Amino acid sequence: MSPTEPVAGTPAEEAAVEEVAAVSLRDVSMAFGGRTVLASVSLDIAPGSVVALLGANGAGKSTLIKILSGVHTDHGGEVRVAGEPAALPSPLAARQLGIQTVHQRIGEGIVPGLTVAENLVFEELAQKRGNPFLNGSRILARAREIQSALGLDWSDVLLKKDVTELGISDRQLLILARTLATRPRLLILDEPTSALSAAEAERLFALVERMRDDGIAVLYVSHRLGEIDALADRLVVLRDGRLTEDQAKPFDWDAALRAMLLGRPARQAQEATTARPVAEGASGDVVLSLQGVRLFEGRAPFDLDLRTGEVTGVVGLLGAGKTELARGLFGAEPFTTGAVELDGRAYEPRRPADAIRAGVHLVPEDRHADALVPGWSLAQNISLPFLKSLSRAGLVNRSREDALGRDIIDALGVVTRDEHSTVEELSGGNQQKIVVGRWLAQTPRVLILDEPFRGVDIGARRDIGRRARALAAEGSAVLVLSADVDEILEIADRVVVLAAGEIHLDAYGEDAERDRVIQTIAVSV
Ligand SMILES: Nc1ncnc2c1ncn2[C@@H]1O[C@H](COP(=O)(O)OP(=O)(O)OP(=O)(O)O)[C@@H](O)[C@H]1O
Ligand SMILES: [Mg+2]
Repeated sequence: MSPTEPVAGTPAEEAAVEEVAAVSLRDVSMAFGGRTVLASVSLDIAPGSVVALLGANGAGKSTLIKILSGVHTDHGGEVRVAGEPAALPSPLAARQLGIQTVHQRIGEGIVPGLTVAENLVFEELAQKRGNPFLNGSRILARAREIQSALGLDWSDVLLKKDVTELGISDRQLLILARTLATRPRLLILDEPTSALSAAEAERLFALVERMRDDGIAVLYVSHRLGEIDALADRLVVLRDGRLTEDQAKPFDWDAALRAMLLGRPARQAQEATTARPVAEGASGDVVLSLQGVRLFEGRAPFDLDLRTGEVTGVVGLLGAGKTELARGLFGAEPFTTGAVELDGRAYEPRRPADAIRAGVHLVPEDRHADALVPGWSLAQNISLPFLKSLSRAGLVNRSREDALGRDIIDALGVVTRDEHSTVEELSGGNQQKIVVGRWLAQTPRVLILDEPFRGVDIGARRDIGRRARALAAEGSAVLVLSADVDEILEIADRVVVLAAGEIHLDAYGEDAERDRVIQTIAVSV
């Protein structure tokens, strides 16, 4: 029965019908190679509600989701759909029962070799294989319908492109659109905003609210507390595979964070409201000096000096020029005009290899899982960019490699057996930590971090921040780019607001106050 169908019966029967959960878990457990990852998890997800699932990296969130979506089948306990025990032997079986999942790794839902339109109607193509009515222009027409219902405004030209030509945020939107078109019973979103810009995320939130109001149950995984506060009706916390907290709105964030991070050093739930106070004399020499740099044609040029001893946070919306700034400094794409000096000498990298040789490192925004080498150990993956410096006569010094790996695993709290585990065994957020962490293992002249916090939990966010500040103290100039004001305030000593390629605010410590930063962003778009 669909949730919107009128129910005939006695009031008692009606109440009973109302109580039936869209999907329930009963004593669900799961182990990988003898290691328990989920232990006796029971949860009811009511129709028309948004349940946020919180937990540190490696807590078991994605594993739980993969059980619900028919990916992991060798689990203990039971899954019920609309009150009935359900078998979920495959992802197709789960989808046919109305459980639709958007997985954390975006690549998992994309079919390369098909067009964008074909990917949009993929579900229908797969189920009506050989249907003579569903081809060519009909696919395009159906794809148009789906995308316009979601307000994507995609042109026919784009719909006819091979799906691999889409950027990551468009791929993410495509998967969402396809999923929503099926009107699921339970929609599961595993960190859906980690690849989206702020505006795209807003669009997603509006969609989720509409679905909830339509009676669809939503299970939402995110590390961004602001999102959860805005969207969720209820939150549950997983810690080390156990459900430890279950709250209805309004949420008690202190309790939720304690439940999530217990056993780790106490951390304040409160978000920073200004940039970090700059210690007297902490800021040192100018390392990198930008002079008359222009990020976009027709925009005013600016000067910017980056010093040792301080972390500079650049905040701006999508299209503000953050990525252009990073790529220009990394030699991936030259600036329109302007000059850059590194330690007082002209710095003109023509390619990233020049930048790395000069000691300018970039953690790029586009961090696909393919920044990691499958089958290689964590230690090998961490030292990958530095193989040369770890090798002598072509032989890698394994003990130094292992030490480097252990160092980063400890510093960022990567949840793993040890540095010899392979990257596939890690949770999504822990994989992210490896990709970011490998660049934190060195003390470069300049370290640029483009959106370093996507997918990592609050604890790790602070670990990355602490590590970045330690590098600044050791003599690196550190530049962090993010669209999220709170993330920037948490890490930076100095905040630069970038909008349409120009600098609108450049302030230290208490002068970089949250409302002022937000206000500046708002008026400069
Ligand atoms: N295929 C696998 N083989 C071995 N161990 C695995 C595998 N998949 C997950 N694990 C382990 O299970 C635990 C839970 O992982 P899971 O991906 O569910 O975490 P998560 O809560 O989704 O974390 P994140 O916030 O980082 O995405 C982790 O310790 C992880 O290393
Ligand atoms: Mg996960």
